[in-house]
Amino acid sequence: MKGKSLQQSLAEENSSTDAGQQNLAKLRNLVPESPFQHFRWITQMSSEAVETWKSYFLNRIRAQNSSNVAPVAKQKMRPGAQPGAQPGAQPAGQNSAKSDAQQDNNPAMDASILSSLKNIGRDFYIAEFFEPISSTQLLKSAFPRWICPIEHQWPTNPLAERFVERAAQGVVDKLGCSWSDLQVLSATPQLRRVAIGIKGRIIQIRNEKKSETIAAESAHSQAEILIAFIHPKGLLAGRSNSRLHLGSAYVGGLGFLNSAPQEEVRASRASGKINEVLGLLELVQLTSKNFPTWLELGAAPGGMTQELVNWGAQVSAVDPANLNHAVRQHPKVRHIQINANEIKDASEYSAILCDMNGPAIISAEIVARLASTLRCGGLIVHTLKEVSFNELSQTLRFVENTFKQNGIEVLAIKHLFHNRKELTLIAVKHA
Ligand SMILES: C[S@@+](CC[C@H](N)C(=O)[O-])C[C@H]1O[C@@H](n2cnc3c(N)ncnc32)[C@H](O)[C@@H]1O
Repeated sequence: MKGKSLQQSLAEENSSTDAGQQNLAKLRNLVPESPFQHFRWITQMSSEAVETWKSYFLNRIRAQNSSNVAPVAKQKMRPGAQPGAQPGAQPAGQNSAKSDAQQDNNPAMDASILSSLKNIGRDFYIAEFFEPISSTQLLKSAFPRWICPIEHQWPTNPLAERFVERAAQGVVDKLGCSWSDLQVLSATPQLRRVAIGIKGRIIQIRNEKKSETIAAESAHSQAEILIAFIHPKGLLAGRSNSRLHLGSAYVGGLGFLNSAPQEEVRASRASGKINEVLGLLELVQLTSKNFPTWLELGAAPGGMTQELVNWGAQVSAVDPANLNHAVRQHPKVRHIQINANEIKDASEYSAILCDMNGPAIISAEIVARLASTLRCGGLIVHTLKEVSFNELSQTLRFVENTFKQNGIEVLAIKHLFHNRKELTLIAVKHA
């Protein structure tokens, strides 16, 4: 058989560059810039991450504020800020060398940005600000698992008589019926029945109004989602969009995930992590056709590998440890039983997944080195383990710089529902 002609090779090269550019553009939409701004948000965060989030988030906002607007002018814009309430404020750019703990030690400054963070049951919080905060600012601050603006509230006892009827009517009157997906969440298990009742009643009212039929549990909707949230002191509601404003297909921790069938590797926390990421990719129309071949580092026993092959990908699973027998036998899996350090090149793959044990800064160097050999539009999904929450800013700055030096753009750093003391980084090779 003859080899490829020069023209054929050039055509293939061009079409793979085009595909890479398309992947890049779609991936950048994962957490797009958004003009959507609000004073009050509902969010869900792991309780152990809350203090870290406050210092990390406030540092980011301070850095943005000091680089965007002169501090004095900015202060005038804040309705809640007291004149001269920032005696210890740092001039622009002078706080970057401090540790998270040092930077956190500025209550006057914090009070001028975040008015309060109130726990309203389980891992749910109301975050209230003195000035509107954009969805992008919140979603890029690592720990909010999803967010929703508060557009309507009814402070009353949810166990009171006729609450369900009045709450459902109030939500529809205030926020309308033009949404295509509905989520009703309860802050405590005791309020679940109330939430179920409200959900049913809202759907009924919508049907009475002869609006379109809804796909209430359609996880990957690009359209507007109505969220009603029942907590011990009443109801909160807002409209959002799974891609723009929630950043997650897994709103409120509700599972839309297809776990592996029983006879395969049991769905583990690791499987959950990759499933959440695949859900996010689907929100921006990326499937296994876009990322058909994966290099997976730290793959054993194979929970994530199993999910990837179920998704339709081909996986080279790198781990000195053994893979589960069924996973190893799968025709789309190749077990490379060596240390990830020994792999020199990843250019034949469209994506790298890393869930290796070990400190975040060490695995980041291995992943960045390999990711530098990916083509443009190549995807990187990397669990940052052993992240010390006290030194989060420094660790993330190191990781982001290491990736940047290797031509990789970090798109999102998220605390997935299945992450514990770790974070998941999603990045793309851009050149
Ligand atoms: C948390 S487990 C991975 C779980 C896996 N993602 C799953 O879905 O089943 C971490 C794995 O990283 C592997 N590991 C640690 N250091 C490694 C290295 N340098 N190269 C390859 N694998 C490594 C360990 O052998 C271990 O199996």
